Amino acid sequence: MSATLPDVLSTRRLVLRPFHRDDATALFGIFSDQQVVRFWSAGAWTEIGQAERMIEEAMLAYRGGGLSRYAITLRATGELIGICNLRGFFEQNRRCELGYALGSAYWGRGYAGEALEALLGHAFEALGMNRIEADIDPRNDASARLLERLGFRQEGFMPERWIVDGEKADTAFYGLLKRYWDERALARSSLAAAG
Ligand SMILES: CC(C)(COP(=O)(O)OP(=O)(O)OC[C@H]1O[C@@H](n2cnc3c(N)ncnc32)[C@H](O)[C@@H]1OP(=O)(O)O)[C@@H](O)C(=O)NCCC(=O)NCCS
Repeated sequence: MSATLPDVLSTRRLVLRPFHRDDATALFGIFSDQQVVRFWSAGAWTEIGQAERMIEEAMLAYRGGGLSRYAITLRATGELIGICNLRGFFEQNRRCELGYALGSAYWGRGYAGEALEALLGHAFEALGMNRIEADIDPRNDASARLLERLGFRQEGFMPERWIVDGEKADTAFYGLLKRYWDERALARSSLAAAG
């Protein structure tokens, strides 16, 4: 399993690509925004070094494994608008975890759905995953809706799993199995065939 090879993934409006060192300023712009980190596992960034470290971690992982982190960019302009990643690969069980965030200026236009559709397809088809997990704050309606649209099912609730800047936050735990993904694809193609 070559789980961490950062193949470039293209969609109608987006290109998901590996990070470069010169993405730090754009990345800092995303994670220094309080709105973006409202339900994230850490507080808003305050210095560019935090962006540089996230990119360094991604670049190390491209060589060493364990994390597959993509820059989500606009196909038309090349602008970096968000990130998505697969991490926590567990080879024997063919499972991993999904994470994602978009700059707030780009919310509500279907970009996250489009990016994750491509990333999940890649994870199931090219990387051979059987199960993908996501841990979100139950108050994060946009994230819950996004996951459910992609076929994830809520499997659990874990109270006070996180403490971010002194605030306790719960986890809504979601899972997507390969067979749910396949059933969804089948249902969508039957719907399309029916006109
Ligand atoms: C979660 C996030 C990635 C969604 O990105 P997005 O590009 O706005 O999502 P999409 O436009 O693809 O929308 C996905 C679905 O969520 C719905 N949605 C979007 N914002 C919503 C909101 N505030 N409340 C309820 N539903 C919402 C959309 O309507 C869409 O559902 P639909 O297709 O049935 O209409 C984005 O809000 C974000 O980056 N948030 C900050 C980081 C974060 O919380 N990441 C997840 C942590 S695990």
